[in-house]
Amino acid sequence: MKKIIVVFGATGNLGNRIVRELLKRGAAVRAVVRPATDPEKIGALEKMGTTVEEADLDSVDTLAKASRDAGCVVSALAGLGDVIVDLQKRVLDGAIKAGVPRFIPSDFCTDYTDLVLGENRNFDLRRAFREYIDVSPIQATSIFNGAFADILQYNTPVLNLKEKSIGYWGDKANWPLDFTTMDETAAFTAEVALDEEAPRNLQISSFGVSPTMLWQEVKAATGQDFRLHRLASLADFAQFIKQQRAAYPAGENELYAKWQQGQYMYSMFTTHHTNLANGRYEKLTWTTSADFIKSFVQ
Ligand SMILES: NC(=O)c1ccc[n+]([C@@H]2O[C@H](COP(=O)([O-])OP(=O)(O)OC[C@H]3O[C@@H](n4cnc5c(N)ncnc54)[C@H](OP(=O)(O)O)[C@@H]3O)[C@@H](O)[C@H]2O)c1
Repeated sequence: MKKIIVVFGATGNLGNRIVRELLKRGAAVRAVVRPATDPEKIGALEKMGTTVEEADLDSVDTLAKASRDAGCVVSALAGLGDVIVDLQKRVLDGAIKAGVPRFIPSDFCTDYTDLVLGENRNFDLRRAFREYIDVSPIQATSIFNGAFADILQYNTPVLNLKEKSIGYWGDKANWPLDFTTMDETAAFTAEVALDEEAPRNLQISSFGVSPTMLWQEVKAATGQDFRLHRLASLADFAQFIKQQRAAYPAGENELYAKWQQGQYMYSMFTTHHTNLANGRYEKLTWTTSADFIKSFVQ
């Protein structure tokens, strides 16, 4: 019989790709959506071969029913405290009530377990939910993928194609930054969902690339010398983010406020993955930084 995997957040960017990868691997996928979900997105999931169930996400009993007979519940939900902590707690309680043995929370970020509390708001929400999982009777696996590689295309201070610049903080010109493509994160997540032996934490990255390596690879791809420069000390960057946050209280209700983006960058320059599980599933392949950079720079 096919293994049933229940996915929350299946209409999202990452969630949709996880569904696709699960279907490829022969799983029966049940996507649980809220009543407000766009019917077009539901139609697209059904077309892929997913069973879609609409549920009242406020009711643990309904969530338990939606998670019946599943081998694993995967959350790819995105949001602030009401989603990452409150909703995921109900989803987890529903899974436990339904007797589901395994759960994958919507972490999908840099491994925050050694980071300082207060350094990154969105990581702290994940940490709060993690504490709840870790006293729950369910086997959980967190997937830490660093940043999605796609952000390299968005003209951040790390790589700005418009300004032809590559930046770093502190003395971190040679500090490897972890990037994973969304597709590779999704494929790995599907493998984990089907892997009853998966441990509590799994770090991955399609590639680790330092600002200096980025400079070399951009040069190889374009023939151009981008400006490789130190942006500020890490202490000054932390101070700047604090000021930005204080000056923009509305950002407390925004998922990706400017200061939150700064916090992500800061975390990338203070921690990286040293215990990669890239080799855990033999069939998976990983994009190199050179190939990824070549795919969008000219
Ligand atoms: N490491 C990185 O660089 C990086 C970058 C981006 C995202 N991420 C992470 O990847 C994960 C998925 O993000 P994404 O970008 O794929 O998200 P997304 O495209 O915005 O999709 C969010 C999903 O969550 C659902 N959702 C949001 N609020 C909800 C609510 N209140 N109740 C029920 N469902 C709700 C949405 O359902 P509807 O269709 O009903 O709205 C949708 O399925 C998150 O953990 C996110 O933080 C990581």
